[in-house]
Amino acid sequence: MEMDLHEPIKRTLAKARQHFQAGEHDKAASCYEKAANLLGVYAEQATSREAETRRKKMALEYREIARRLRSGDTADERDSDGGAERPAAASRPASGSGAPAPQAAGEIRSIVTDLMHQANVTWDDIGGLDDTKDEIKFALGMTLAKQPPGVRIAAWTKILFFGPPGTGKTLLAAATSRAVRSSEGVPSVFYNVKISSVLSKYFGESSKIVSELYGTARDTSPSVVFLDEFEALCGKRDAGDTGAERRILSTLLAELDGMDSKGRSDIYVLTIAATNRPWDLDPAVLSRFEKKILIPLPDEVTREKILRIHLERKGFKTEVPYEDLAKATEGFSGREIERFCKEVTTGMIEQMNHDIPGLVDKGLEHVKGYQLRVRELTREDFDAAGRLIHPQTTREEMNKYLRWKESVQEE
Ligand SMILES: Nc1ncnc2c1ncn2[C@@H]1O[C@H](COP(=O)(O)OP(=O)(O)OP(=O)(O)O)[C@@H](O)[C@H]1O
Ligand SMILES: [Mg+2]
Repeated sequence: MEMDLHEPIKRTLAKARQHFQAGEHDKAASCYEKAANLLGVYAEQATSREAETRRKKMALEYREIARRLRSGDTADERDSDGGAERPAAASRPASGSGAPAPQAAGEIRSIVTDLMHQANVTWDDIGGLDDTKDEIKFALGMTLAKQPPGVRIAAWTKILFFGPPGTGKTLLAAATSRAVRSSEGVPSVFYNVKISSVLSKYFGESSKIVSELYGTARDTSPSVVFLDEFEALCGKRDAGDTGAERRILSTLLAELDGMDSKGRSDIYVLTIAATNRPWDLDPAVLSRFEKKILIPLPDEVTREKILRIHLERKGFKTEVPYEDLAKATEGFSGREIERFCKEVTTGMIEQMNHDIPGLVDKGLEHVKGYQLRVRELTREDFDAAGRLIHPQTTREEMNKYLRWKESVQEE
């Protein structure tokens, strides 16, 4: 779905300038926020990495201008001659005493910018997990709706997903991020942080990255910060830790705690952490999470839904009833079901289109003119694929998650 956003962005910026000149700073700020949201979407549509980064940076800068307008500090507003993709020099004032040197700060900003995404997973892309989806929707609704007069309902800001590999934790986080929208209806900015890669690439800087990440996430509110492989960051403190790891942990704790107190009511940053090893998590971190949700291996009904997503919804036909396939995939995770479906369909397509390698030898134009053939999937297709995939999570391992869940609920 390509949208041409250049014009709306220009118009919004023109409006922002009009409001600013008329002294209507709040209205101008809203326009800059809207422009930043549009730029976020525009960035996702960029065809080159440079363009993507440039647009994301511009989005951050307009948000910064909006923030300053709202806080009454308008000194730098002159930078806002939008339209052209020209990065302005605005930079978010680094907070605290540990402010990095300017050049390092620029680097850290660009690392954080690279983590920004606009999620495109919808609730319907996720089979089953209906209770979990409802629970998340309820939590979001409760947080975003108007408070009853005289009552203050605390917002939900921290959710932990735990469970075996490939059960939909990342999908759920992305769908949640898409469900959180700004008042203009633009999905929230999704910060997808794979802890292991941040740690391995920028070990000494990780603590600064965490602060910058949360600072930026507040600027781009509403935001969802997804901390994947959470145990890598928040392992129990006794297990052979180093000074750097302790620093990351205390920075993260401060950010998680600070969220509620720092948070103006119009800023919303939701942290979603995911792990396969919840028992390795530091208890101090764990206690911060209001919701700990087990994402289990799919049951039979759920497996059928996941199979339909990866076959029926992609247009494939099968002579084997879905109920039978659901029974045959007992113990599979969602990811294993997806792989299973891919094996089945690829096998069938290979069988139906033997002539393709020869056509490729003849040249590109021959391949382009060729119509791929498909047929209904048969029991033999499924049997062949089934022999290739072996579920990796045992019943005993699944029970370990259940026991852990009980142990934290008793506390
Ligand atoms: N409930 C589901 N419905 C549809 N597809 C699913 C579901 N669960 C998993 N999948 C498929 O498996 C893939 C992996 O899922 P996902 O990345 O969300 O797993 P995860 O729980 O984050 O795993 P890990 O713990 O290894 O990070 C998805 O891209 C999707 O194709
Ligand atoms: Mg994942």
